[in-house]
Amino acid sequence: MKDMLRIAIDGPSGAGKSTIAKEVAKKLGIDYIDTGAMYRAVGYKMKRDGIAADDEAALRAMLDDTDIDFVRGDIILDGAVVNDVIRTSEISKMASVCSALLPVREKLVEIQRGMGSRKSVIMDGRDIATNVLKDAEYKFFLTASAAERAERRHKELCEKGETITFEAVLNDIEKRDHNDMTRKLNPLRKAEDAIEVDTTGLSIEEVVAFVLKEIR
Ligand code: DC
Repeated sequence: MKDMLRIAIDGPSGAGKSTIAKEVAKKLGIDYIDTGAMYRAVGYKMKRDGIAADDEAALRAMLDDTDIDFVRGDIILDGAVVNDVIRTSEISKMASVCSALLPVREKLVEIQRGMGSRKSVIMDGRDIATNVLKDAEYKFFLTASAAERAERRHKELCEKGETITFEAVLNDIEKRDHNDMTRKLNPLRKAEDAIEVDTTGLSIEEVVAFVLKEIR
């Protein structure tokens, strides 16, 4: 047990969590678990199968019949790779909606705890340090200004060919921040024992170096 290493990275969307976590995972040779992708996968399935957020029976039946895993960096939903279809702005909104639903959180947190109990991991999300892996050896809370986060996300979406204005992305980010921070179930907040890193104006390399320095 002594050599198990669990690193939790929380923060709002666009703060650079996944980029940093992926890089740190590579450097340390441990698995990276993107919990946001898991909420996106469930949001995608709800949309695809026409399941309403307030239809609890249908939602629970769908979740009982849902399998989510990561294989070599790919997210697998019921046996199919869904890396790309979960990254649209429409599914971002669905993920935010479904992440406020108790049955969804119960199911995904259980899977995430299972993943974190078997091997060393770096896991990113909103409630990793405060809920999923409360006893993680290292906890980081990444932030950046809303304008910088919107700029990063806008660039990403444009590169993927989505037509969306910067203002619309900023608006979405502010709405999602509000939803994530004010929802009743495991809202986004910094754990008392987490190290806060404001990534505004910092390069990826600088943030990765900071995180590695804290761990080593
Ligand atoms: O990090 P992301 O943008 O891919 O996350 C998608 C949504 O899932 C976002 O609205 C926040 C939510 N989420 C959550 O509630 N808890 C997590 N551990 C991870 C993501």
